[in-house]
Amino acid sequence: MTAPTAGIRKTIATLPGDGIGPEVTRAAVQLLRDCAASFGHQFEFREFPFGGAAIDRTGDPLPAATLAGCKSADAILLGAIGGPKWDSLPLEQRPEAGLLALRKSLGLYINLRPIRICDPLRSISPLKPERLTGCDFEIVRELAGDIYFGEHDTRGHNGNATARDVASYSVAEVERVARYAFERAAGRNRKLTSVDKANVLATSALWRKTVTSVSRHYPQVKLEHLYVDNAAMQILLRPQQFDVILTSNMFGDILSDEAAALAGSIGLIPSMSRGKAGPALYEPIHGSAPSLAGKDVACPLGAIFSASLMLRESFGLEIEAQSIEAAVDRILERGYRTPDIGDPAKGIAGGNGARIVGCSEFTEHISAEVSDVLVHHERYGWGV
Ligand code: IPM
Ligand code: MG
Repeated sequence: MTAPTAGIRKTIATLPGDGIGPEVTRAAVQLLRDCAASFGHQFEFREFPFGGAAIDRTGDPLPAATLAGCKSADAILLGAIGGPKWDSLPLEQRPEAGLLALRKSLGLYINLRPIRICDPLRSISPLKPERLTGCDFEIVRELAGDIYFGEHDTRGHNGNATARDVASYSVAEVERVARYAFERAAGRNRKLTSVDKANVLATSALWRKTVTSVSRHYPQVKLEHLYVDNAAMQILLRPQQFDVILTSNMFGDILSDEAAALAGSIGLIPSMSRGKAGPALYEPIHGSAPSLAGKDVACPLGAIFSASLMLRESFGLEIEAQSIEAAVDRILERGYRTPDIGDPAKGIAGGNGARIVGCSEFTEHISAEVSDVLVHHERYGWGV
């Protein structure tokens, strides 16, 4: 580790959203505040309504004031959106439409989802622990195009209805996200796996051709192509073969949930969405989990790792990011778990030295540990 950066000032827009969104956002904000206090930074938090919560207050999942607040922030932290309360609304009025509009309005075309296995949680993965050895990869999902943003229409009614969703990609859209994925791979283990369905889809054939031509600028990175059905299988069979996976919006949505299962829970995975310039958006990849909401049982780690990703990627605060991640590892090693990441099979949800605690108590332990990491460094110096 190098010495910490001198104090910086940043404005962070928070969009707690729905369901467990507010609880996990609170946890992440607490750790960002701890870091700011410990390392001498100033973070100003500005909260805005978004998703179902914003529909209830203003009739719009993405109110103009929320979008303006996001645009003027240095980074955005989002909890989760959606829930049964808004499921009967037409697609274009639902909380999810607000999320797509936010991504589009901010020009967020890159979505990064790091799949990191927390060692103390190996036993909750559905894979045998030895099959996870060396599993550490990132998914780069294109976020602003594909079938998500093509025309959606339904014609006719009831038994005579037909529906259509249009998928499209331009060379420029594929190139810009591919360049980012090659850069990521160049900074890691220099392997990029591009995932498509080029044996069937025109968009995928264009995707493959474009990624191949971008690869000529990155001779140090080994490029391989996989069809999405095979990729879905390979993620389970031999996850350690991957370094960076690059894929389209729709396939990335699906494969990232599958990859999250390797880590043991979708509640553990953070994400960053960014464009060419402007603020990036950080959010756990899990949903709003309405059945867990308000019970103080949700796992806040997806949101907490989103906060550490923000420190690292948007603010260049590597030591601060590591202090949060190391604190989480230590708390897990001591056996603390929220109920959803306990291990009933191993008796962890109850016995075996595990301590099942609520979201807020779990966060308190991590928070105390972040301060301890700092005390340790102050006493022994950076670099130990
Ligand atoms: C995700 C989510 C969103 C998506 C939904 C909520 C619109 O599943 O971020 O993975 O499909 O992109
Ligand atoms: Mg998803």
